[in-house]
Amino acid sequence: MTKRVVSSSCSWVGISLLALVACKQPDRTKETETAAASVSAEAAAAAASAESAGLAVDKMTLPADFPAMKIPEDNPQTDAKVALGHQLFFDKRLSVDGSRACYSCHMNENGTGGADPIAIGAQEKKLTRHSPMLWNVGHLSRFYWDGRADSLEAQMKGAWGGGNMGVGKENLDAKAKEIGKIPGYKKQFDEVFKGEGATADTVAKAVSAYERTLICNDTAYDKYAKGDKKALDDAQKKGLALFMGKAGCTACHTAPFFSSAYLLPEGTYFNVGTGLEGKAPADVDVGRKAVTEKDADWAAFKVPSLRNVSKTAPYFHNGSKKTLEEAVRFMASGGYKNTNRSPLMVDRQLSDAEIKDLVAFLGALECGGKLEEPKLPE
Ligand code: HEC
Ligand code: HEC
Repeated sequence: MTKRVVSSSCSWVGISLLALVACKQPDRTKETETAAASVSAEAAAAAASAESAGLAVDKMTLPADFPAMKIPEDNPQTDAKVALGHQLFFDKRLSVDGSRACYSCHMNENGTGGADPIAIGAQEKKLTRHSPMLWNVGHLSRFYWDGRADSLEAQMKGAWGGGNMGVGKENLDAKAKEIGKIPGYKKQFDEVFKGEGATADTVAKAVSAYERTLICNDTAYDKYAKGDKKALDDAQKKGLALFMGKAGCTACHTAPFFSSAYLLPEGTYFNVGTGLEGKAPADVDVGRKAVTEKDADWAAFKVPSLRNVSKTAPYFHNGSKKTLEEAVRFMASGGYKNTNRSPLMVDRQLSDAEIKDLVAFLGALECGGKLEEPKLPE
């Protein structure tokens, strides 16, 4: 009941910071913060009210510059370390059965996400979630769909020891030692990690250093935000205006990363209703709640970046939507109603043409770069 009132009183047409504050619920401070950080009120109002969406977005202040990346003090970036991590990221010898590299589930063909709706790990073990895309991952401070890892180094060891690579937590040092015996690796480990050589920690540090170089900041959107007004076509400009205004996407998918999770130290998590349809409560992936044990986090997932999203089908933590249009339609129509759905998820009543404009705009977030395949040491 309260939720109904809240969502219908929060008009997103002519969205303003004041309206956002009015949307605030006691347990929703995080959402309000996020939304407040999202876009200048002036810019959003301009988008919603102007007749010509193209003109409106031309006047907006659009964030393009990334904040500085936080590099852990005990793992400074060096070229030699990045080169080593790059090889390790692509090396299947890191897995228990030689079948998987990190890259296997984060391939260029899939925009660095995965092709399988639910990832399949070493020894053909079915995992529980879809592989997320990795561009700009060094800017996150919480990892996984539920934010359970608090550093790239910890995440790397999780994937390596867990089902993804199948090595087993207790066997990581032994595996590292094995890798460190390969002459081409030995030389590099001795040089990069003097006195330490190849250990679970140094492998994780090298791979993480490489991941911190995966930057996507020169999309058509970035060019546009920096002043090249021809970088977007008309449909994309209309889509951008909708995204920042009437469609309300920016509250969670905040520029420049197109996810507020990259801007806040704990990440940001919302229940949008994914993974609930047709499921008994006991079978539901509870998402963030498994980490915080708070009911408010039930079936809430980290807001994914929308950079490169046109290339990362299928979508959502469970890979449940095959096409970008389906995913956008789901989000724009308020997701799936359930007891914990975010009040920011309301039916925006968009026309088919508007959905298509949103999809066109998301195409402007396509990353130009790709992960280069390195030569592996022997
Ligand atoms: C079998 C497929 C598979 C392999 C192999 C794999 N990953 Fe992943 N990766 C996933 C899945 C699935 C998730 C999301 C899991 C979750 O949220 O519970 C993920 C999540 C991540 C994330 C978190 C991204 C984010 O937005 O929070 C990073 C970083 C990552 N993987 C890097 C790696 C690295 C490094 C390796 C090698 C050690 C690796 N992956 C191996 C499937 C894989
Ligand atoms: C309340 C916050 C919120 C709002 C508002 C929101 N999203 Fe999302 N979005 C999310 C979350 C959380 C997910 C991840 C859900 C999951 O994986 O289960 C997501 C996932 C997505 C995905 C899939 C990305 C992927 O890599 O799988 C797309 C596409 C998307 N949103 C587009 C949009 C668009 C377009 C809008 C505006 C119409 C929008 N979202 C509004 C929170 C939000």
